[in-house]
Amino acid sequence: MTKIRIAVQKSGRLNQDSLKILKDCGISIDNGKDQLKATARNFPLEVLYLRNGDIPQYLRDGIVDIAVLGENVLIEKGRDISIVEKLGFSKCRVSLAVPKSTKYNSVKDFEGKRIATSYPNTVLDYLKSKGVTADLHIINGSVEIAPNIGLADGICDIVSSGSTLFKNNLKEVEVILKSEAVLAVSPKISEECTVILEKLQFRIKSVLQARN
Ligand code: PRP
Ligand code: MG
Repeated sequence: MTKIRIAVQKSGRLNQDSLKILKDCGISIDNGKDQLKATARNFPLEVLYLRNGDIPQYLRDGIVDIAVLGENVLIEKGRDISIVEKLGFSKCRVSLAVPKSTKYNSVKDFEGKRIATSYPNTVLDYLKSKGVTADLHIINGSVEIAPNIGLADGICDIVSSGSTLFKNNLKEVEVILKSEAVLAVSPKISEECTVILEKLQFRIKSVLQARN
């Protein structure tokens, strides 16, 4: 029997809530801790636990049919991939921040400055739209440490509670975009899996309605 393959974040902030929404849809998944693949017991679905940033490529290649991931990841590297449902959790912003002690007037202040980020496309597009040119340092994590160690003048990263910025003596100065978890679909999804997706979406919609 055909199963739909869904990618879910392996670890990190989306993992728990992504599994929770499937559970609320009445889908039970054996969640062995170290397993990278799991099968649902009562729905034609298989879960692949993947790194967030890898998911757009898996969707593009049709290795997975659908995925739960942050909209910000799609904006960064999956603009060709369609969103079928906004899921209402893992809300965050992608923002520019500078040290608290830096005097800041406008985005023009970033002209010629060094910005550390894991979201180069997002920052570049934003700066370009404002006519600003800056020097990007691409790093994959702990971005907020960069100004304190002399690696950059500012950063662009995800802000949720704001506590990472606060702990690193940074202030949010520009919100580039707002994001939340979404259900995205592969452009290569088969007709059979589309039928399964429709069933899943029907359940998701009622779960989301009940949550509101
Ligand atoms: C994420 C993100 C921010 C922080 C935002 O980092 O990159 O640093 O969370 O959340 P907050 O506003 O609630 O503090 P994460 O802790 O996942 O670590 P990483 O960047 O090193 O992967
Ligand atoms: Mg971080």
